[in-house]
Amino acid sequence: MSINVNGNPVELPGDPRVSLLDLLRERLLLTGTKKGCNQGACGACSVLVDGERIISCLALAVQYEGRSVTTVEGLAEDGALHPLQAAFIAHDGFQCGYCTPGQLCSALGMAAEARRGLPSAVTADLEADSMPLTRDEIRERMSGNLCRCGAHNGIVDAILDACAGGGR
Ligand code: FES
Ligand code: FES
Repeated sequence: MSINVNGNPVELPGDPRVSLLDLLRERLLLTGTKKGCNQGACGACSVLVDGERIISCLALAVQYEGRSVTTVEGLAEDGALHPLQAAFIAHDGFQCGYCTPGQLCSALGMAAEARRGLPSAVTADLEADSMPLTRDEIRERMSGNLCRCGAHNGIVDAILDACAGGGR
């Protein structure tokens, strides 16, 4: 049984109780993905699975056999930051940085959801083919990713800058 992490095949643990978060952090030493609450409440452990955002603390690693996981370590390409990473720097989208890997992965998954036309609780036109990422939409759709430093205004600005135009 294997899983793909940031483009690399990885053997899944024999113990089916290992969470995806613990596989990433403790076995693969990909410590970019953070453990905040370990109970699905903070979003710090958000990663992408086949492009969709999940919270990895509530996921068992074996559930994702054959799937492709992207963590914050997999966002940069050829040594260049992902445009969203660069936007977080440009807009002061963090202070301590603990929530940032989860914010980045969640935002990318969130933007893809909006492009696919998945509505949020504040979407006015439920029939639209894709949902424009307004400030209110971003705030609502990112409400599962908490920032104890209170960098939310910069986070929203960064996402608006990098994702609202339909970027990757
Ligand atoms: S560590 Fe997973 S949601 Fe908080
Ligand atoms: S930057 Fe510190 S928790 Fe968000």
